[in-house]
Amino acid sequence: MCGIVGYVGSKPALDVVIEGLARLEYRGYDSAGVAILADGGLATAKRAGKLVNLRQALEEEPAPEGTAGMGHTRWATHGPPNDRNAHPHVDCSGRIAVIHNGIIENFASLRAELAERGHTLSSDTDTEAVAHLLEEELREVGALTEAMRRVCRRLEGAFTLVAVYADDPDVVVGARRNSPLVVGVGDGENFLASDVAAFIAHTRDAIELGQDQVVELRREGVTVTDFDGKPAEVREYHVDWDVTAAEKGGYDYFMLKEIAEQPRAVADTLLGRIGTDGRLSLDEMRISDEQLREIDKIIIIAAGTSYHAGLIAKYAIEHWAGVPCEVELASEFRYRDPILTRTTLVVAISQSGESMDTLMAVRHAREQHARVLGVCNVNGSTLPRECDGVLYTHAGPEIGVAATKTFLTQLVAVYLIALYLAQVRGTKWGDEVFAMVQLLATMPEKVEKVLETMDPVRELARSLADEHCVLFLGRHVGFPVALEGALKLKELAYMHAEGFAAGELKHGPIALIEDGLPVVVVVPPRARAVLHDKIVSNIQEIRARGARTIVIAEDGDDSVEPYSDMVIRVPAVPTLLQPLVATVPLQVFSCELATAKGHDVDQPRNLAKSVTVE
Ligand code: AGP
Repeated sequence: MCGIVGYVGSKPALDVVIEGLARLEYRGYDSAGVAILADGGLATAKRAGKLVNLRQALEEEPAPEGTAGMGHTRWATHGPPNDRNAHPHVDCSGRIAVIHNGIIENFASLRAELAERGHTLSSDTDTEAVAHLLEEELREVGALTEAMRRVCRRLEGAFTLVAVYADDPDVVVGARRNSPLVVGVGDGENFLASDVAAFIAHTRDAIELGQDQVVELRREGVTVTDFDGKPAEVREYHVDWDVTAAEKGGYDYFMLKEIAEQPRAVADTLLGRIGTDGRLSLDEMRISDEQLREIDKIIIIAAGTSYHAGLIAKYAIEHWAGVPCEVELASEFRYRDPILTRTTLVVAISQSGESMDTLMAVRHAREQHARVLGVCNVNGSTLPRECDGVLYTHAGPEIGVAATKTFLTQLVAVYLIALYLAQVRGTKWGDEVFAMVQLLATMPEKVEKVLETMDPVRELARSLADEHCVLFLGRHVGFPVALEGALKLKELAYMHAEGFAAGELKHGPIALIEDGLPVVVVVPPRARAVLHDKIVSNIQEIRARGARTIVIAEDGDDSVEPYSDMVIRVPAVPTLLQPLVATVPLQVFSCELATAKGHDVDQPRNLAKSVTVE
């Protein structure tokens, strides 16, 4: 949940670290801090609030120049988000500093032990215990890397740790268990970060660290071992996007840029999926066709927006591939007794590949011998490594906290999985699969068309900025779209927003309808006459009770006009694909409404991009 940067090289470390933190601020913005090794000592600076506060403090009191250091941007877990709890945390001597992402579960006993042995702990955090444990271990072993290994063996929970030691000024040491940490390999300089975005301006060569590994970073190179000091195997890779992808590119917010990038993101995720024989091929699948034919149940696990993609996947998988499919919130999955066998396929969807709820659910599924397929956007993240196979979405980096382009690309990925299963299991003819993939290939231009017609949606959003509540209704795949519309509005505009299955309305929620209440309704294509006509009746029912109806309907569907205060048009597409076009106006709507309220849509309050704690 926090962002971490480490650097050793020849450039001013403070500049590199602050630049990295700016790119990682999406991970948490409760406080920011740095530690720089310079002049035989260790200088730290930290401030509560966004990075801008730290920058200001450093302007007032500049840090000494050094070429090794580290920085942290925090999403608070232990202790309120104030200066005292901001990272880095130091030991009693002030010569060892530590930053941390994750939760050290045995922190209470460790802190108690340390206090008993005479250490002075000056924060409420779990992290500070590590600084004092390193202090004790360093007294015995003298070298930071070995001290880190020894400390890690004592820790329980999830952690990425980075530490520096004034007596070892050319070294930065990192460690990871259950939280992300990647190495950036430069020329005469090396980097550590929670995400490659932090060092992408300097190098695109990266090393993915495995579980329970410790990395020693020096100017000349990196050494990776396990917690016992044995050399560890790592995976080197080249990042296929550059620094411009992680910049705003002239937009006021990353979210605006990411919404605009959706046609390209959808096209990139489709790229190279059809072989020369016209058959769908999913290279990274790593689960054989024979194994896929044996599957008798699919369970999709995910959180937040990814969960909504999973809900839509269920419709596609059951319709095209004819396999029973359940969708479950990752955070609930392992706390019941899910029935999993070797013939169950678990599909784990996670943009970041780091959501702890999803990772823990994946581990649980694998322990029960289910096969697990990941859908992920971040190369080098934890999820792909823990799954039997993976399908990458190619959305590029998503910096805005609200998922937009990654949602659309997740939809493309799950459609591809459903069609691939249909192809392998023979529930659709090859030409039927090919025809559907060709339809998918037309979606980038359809999404583009939606984007070109968004001015009235922006105007509507501004006019609703003072409302307290907005409801969203849908049926079939329109229901998850309604949930996604409500989630976007909640997280960005901090408004009460609820998504309902339109058919459920009369079972209770209709009591919420009152004069003037804005209700957004996603209308299925007319081709699905039964669904379509039912929702048109639902619109009439809520309008009769005073709702202000904002209707998303396909081009040419005039039947909704008499009952709509506003109709937002989207291109006509097959029902299952409609979420790709119907979600876009809802993203634009919440982004504009939140901006009209003066909110920072890239960094909504209390949130962080990846939730790396349970
Ligand atoms: C959506 O706008 C949020 N950022 C959030 O719901 C997100 O989708 C969720 O935390 C899951 O993240 P993941 O896809 O990285 O696992």
